[in-house]
Amino acid sequence: MSTPARKSPVVIPQTSQPRIVVLADHHARGARIKTMLEPHVSADLLLLDEVRGGIDADMVIVASSLRDLDAIVALRQVLGRAPRATTRIFTIDGNERALVVQAYSLGATDVVFTPFSGKVLRARLPLEGKTPKPRAAVVGECGRALEAIFSDIAQGRAVDLKRTQEATHQIIGSVAAIGLSGWIDDVRRHHEGTFQHCLLVAGVAVDFGMSINIAGTDLINIGLAATLHDIGKAAIEVEILDKSGELTADERAIVERHPTLGYESVKYLDGLPVDVRDAVRDHHELLDGSGYPDALRGDQISDIVRLTTIADIYAALVEKRAYRLQYTHAKAYSIMETMGGRLDQHLLQAFRPVAFGHY
Ligand SMILES: [Fe+2]
Ligand SMILES: [Fe+2]
Repeated sequence: MSTPARKSPVVIPQTSQPRIVVLADHHARGARIKTMLEPHVSADLLLLDEVRGGIDADMVIVASSLRDLDAIVALRQVLGRAPRATTRIFTIDGNERALVVQAYSLGATDVVFTPFSGKVLRARLPLEGKTPKPRAAVVGECGRALEAIFSDIAQGRAVDLKRTQEATHQIIGSVAAIGLSGWIDDVRRHHEGTFQHCLLVAGVAVDFGMSINIAGTDLINIGLAATLHDIGKAAIEVEILDKSGELTADERAIVERHPTLGYESVKYLDGLPVDVRDAVRDHHELLDGSGYPDALRGDQISDIVRLTTIADIYAALVEKRAYRLQYTHAKAYSIMETMGGRLDQHLLQAFRPVAFGHY
C-alpha cells in the first residue's frame, strides 16, 4: 500500500443525519457493507489508500485487513484524522483474539465478526437517538435470556434457541471488547447464583476458545454449550442448589441428575448442533471415568466437552458460593492442577494464560 500524499480534506456533505463512512482496504469489501446498510442508512465509501486529509464523519465502519502491516499503519493514520468519529466499528474476519486486540488498539469502540447481516451492523450504530448499550445493559440482557431459558424449562416449554444464540453472540462480543476480567466483574456485579455461574462459564469458555484461535461457528458452539450446560438445574429445587451446608447423599444424587435433565430439554431442539447438545449431558464427565452421568472416559469425551469442563470448574472456583468465598484466579488454577488425569492436561496448560489474564 502506497503512502498517501496530503491533499485537501474529504468533506462529507452536512445533513441532519449522522455521517457514516465505510473505510475499506478494497472496494468490493467496502461496497458490500455499504449495500448492507442501504436503503435504511446511507453511508459513504472511502478507500483506505485514497483518503487524503481528514475524515469528517460521526461514525466509521472499518472493513480492512488487520493482518497486513501497511493497512494497519494506514488505518492508524487515517483514523487519527477523524476526530469527530466517536463510533468506530471494526468488522473482523472470524473471531481471532489477536485481530480483536489489534482493532481495539486502533481505537475500535465495537467489533462485529463476519459473517454478519446488515441488521446486526445497523443495530450497532447509534442512530435515531440510540446510544451504544452500556456494559450493564449487555450483561443484564444476557441474564434475562438465561432467566427465560430456565423458566421455559421449569414450565415444560421448548428453549428459545434464537434468544440463546443472541445472548451467546453478546457474550462473545463483550468478552472480546472488555476482556474476561471485565466480563467477570460485570457478571458478579449484576447476577447471583446459577445465572451468574452460567454467564461466567460462557465468558471463560469463549475467552479460552479465542485464546487458542477457535473462531466462527466453532466459537459460537463453545459459547452455546457453556451458556446451556447447567440448564438441567432449572428442574432442581433451589433449596438444594443454594444449600449452604454439605449435601446429603440423596441431595447429591438429585443435583447430579442435572446433565441428563438438561440434555432431555434440548435433545429435540431444532438447529442445536449435536456437539452442543452432547456437551450439556457430558460436562461432568472426566477423562479417567470418574465423572457422571455415564462415566465416559478418554476418547469418549469430545474436545468441546473437555473445554467446557475446564471453564465450568474454573468459574465455579472463582465465584462466591453459599458455603465459601471465591478463590483467587491463582488458587483456582492450582486446584485444577491437582485434578491430574481427570482433565485434559494439554488444554489445562493452554488455559493457564486465560486463568491468569495474561494473554
Ligand atoms: Fe453442571
Ligand atoms: Fe456448571
